[in-house]
Amino acid sequence: MTADLGCYNIEDLRQRARRRLPKGVWEYLERGVEDETGMDRNRAAFDAITFVPRVGNKVEQIDTSHTILDAQSSVPFAIGPTGAAGMLWHNGDEHLALAAAQAGIPFTISGASTMDVEDIVAAGGRQWFQLYLWEDRELCHATMERVSAAGCDTLFLTLDLPVMPNREYLFRSGYGLPLTLNSRNALDLLTHPRWLAGVMGRYALGGSLPTQGNLPEHLKASMVKGAKPGTRFKHDNLDWDALKAFRDKWQGTFVLKGILHPDDAEQAVAIGADAIVVSNHGARSLDHSLASIHALPAIAERVGGKTTILFDSGVRRGSDVVKALALGADGVLVGRATLYGLAAGGEAGAVRAMALLQEEIRRVMGMLGVTHTDQITSDLLHQ
Ligand code: GLV
Repeated sequence: MTADLGCYNIEDLRQRARRRLPKGVWEYLERGVEDETGMDRNRAAFDAITFVPRVGNKVEQIDTSHTILDAQSSVPFAIGPTGAAGMLWHNGDEHLALAAAQAGIPFTISGASTMDVEDIVAAGGRQWFQLYLWEDRELCHATMERVSAAGCDTLFLTLDLPVMPNREYLFRSGYGLPLTLNSRNALDLLTHPRWLAGVMGRYALGGSLPTQGNLPEHLKASMVKGAKPGTRFKHDNLDWDALKAFRDKWQGTFVLKGILHPDDAEQAVAIGADAIVVSNHGARSLDHSLASIHALPAIAERVGGKTTILFDSGVRRGSDVVKALALGADGVLVGRATLYGLAAGGEAGAVRAMALLQEEIRRVMGMLGVTHTDQITSDLLHQ
């Protein structure tokens, strides 16, 4: 039994998270880029898809379990990589990982986590790792070795931020990196004493503010300082040959995240990617990119069966997960949904988010007359 926290859907957790967080931290979690049309587009696209329920099937025993990549999961989704966890909750990455392990759901460590990969892996459960590339490619290779030694056999490379995204509100709020204090955000912090003491206070007591956990010790810079040489994120010089080189270096499962065009999906297959993630980065990279769920059918038609197709962006209900599976996804990743839970109530909040989504998936499956996830097909959608 998990605590319900007075939250009965992801939106309730979102509202609770919003009340708890300083405005600038909330904005980092919640907002998109430029005119922020993309998040509404992701939602509108999901909401426009409707089901054709089937009746007369026994649905007493519904099994929501699913294999994602080669991991057994209690649900057809895993937690995707999200960088802000350590700002939402003290050692948030660890609490997300603990929650995922408790729920029997795979967890993806963000390359931008504020904790060291080894400390997150120690939380247990099945864990994958996502890498953002630093300017110094040797550093990336060293991190790949470190991650593999820590026990992660699956590497995600994120492709959809070839250049820095335009998050104008971060310039205004000062909550970018490095974090810059100004009179406005100082007041914001001071008027959220629970967060200030519970998150920043605990970091300060531990002797240091959050850093990028996946850099070697001597290259870590506190969030109030600029990046040290070689440690700025740099993706603008990546091409398919460079991606192939990463593929060849990584012994385990190799996943390319942030694909929206069928030709790119095909390229990913050609260089040997084991999986792709159809994603518009939760509308945090290019504001006017198409909704991820609109990109999915054409990609599934082109590369379905040749590689594993994961999906993310905009998932807030169990029905969204079912729709993505029906349109050809082999599994789904959630991002903000579990971060709302984390920010609302730490590990218990993240567990609550996953339990709510699981219950919604189970209910939708029952309404559709299916009892196993492999029965979820496009026949259940109104086309
Ligand atoms: C990182 O991936 C972000 O979207 O902030």
